[in-house]
Amino acid sequence: MARAEIIDGTATARALRARVADATARLAADHGVVPGLAVVLVGDDPASQVYVRSKSRALAEAGMAAFDHRLAAGTTADQLDQLIGSLNRDPRVSGILVQLPVPPPLEVARLQAAIAPDKDVDGFHVANAGRLAQGWPAPVPCTPLGCLILLRQRFGTGLSGMRALVVGRSNIVGRPVAQLLLNADCTVTVAHSRTADLAAECRRADILVAAAGRPGLIRGDWIKPGATVLDVGVNRLAPAGADPGAKPRLVGDVRFDEAVEVAGAITPVPGGIGPMTIACLLVNTLAAAQRRAGLPPMPEAVP
Ligand code: GUN
Repeated sequence: MARAEIIDGTATARALRARVADATARLAADHGVVPGLAVVLVGDDPASQVYVRSKSRALAEAGMAAFDHRLAAGTTADQLDQLIGSLNRDPRVSGILVQLPVPPPLEVARLQAAIAPDKDVDGFHVANAGRLAQGWPAPVPCTPLGCLILLRQRFGTGLSGMRALVVGRSNIVGRPVAQLLLNADCTVTVAHSRTADLAAECRRADILVAAAGRPGLIRGDWIKPGATVLDVGVNRLAPAGADPGAKPRLVGDVRFDEAVEVAGAITPVPGGIGPMTIACLLVNTLAAAQRRAGLPPMPEAVP
């Protein structure tokens, strides 16, 4: 069997970001509107700090405004509500993102409910999750949107009738990606930590989306020959060797070395889904600004 095609998320994300930058420049020139994203980081989680910095950089490169809010780990729910309320009212702010996870005792559900649904670029508000579940247009969570864009690029409308397995049922990835695949007429199964025979479920899947957050969970001999594998896992493992300054190794949920010998196509980690997530955040921020200005959102925002 031939080795799998490596799906180049970095290249697709670069092209998407260029289209977003073009549309952003047109929005500014034709309508005087500059999309702006408020990025809120609570606490000092090092991985979140890296993510937030790369989001702000990507916004600037696309010609958008970034409003950064760094809050102490001890920020109360009332203080966070107040900040979100002021961002909801601020006309310069098209979208609001509170980086997850937030330190306890802050509750994710409460802060997500506080964000105005039309500024919810993460698509996490229950109103938007409900719209997605009913097949209505809605802001779609960024990682799932990135997955669907890569699949549409490969299969177009041929996704219809394909058997898809989503491994993981989080609100950030598993559930929304399953809804998107269902809306695209796939036959969708959602597996999770209590699934009885995960290997057997995997072997039936034409499309396998791995979003369990467990390094190397999915083995090569679980994959249906020729299947398309999207590895959403971003697991940081301690570096090999004794160098204390060495960076952690990033690995996915799929054993890439094994899966690449069986799959038809596979996303690498890093360089697969990760860059698509940031590109889709730009898509959603632009779409929020376009909707606010009474204009249709760019097509990629409406999968
Ligand atoms: N943390 C990890 N992924 C995400 C995401 O997509 N959005 C937010 N807000 N936080 C995250």
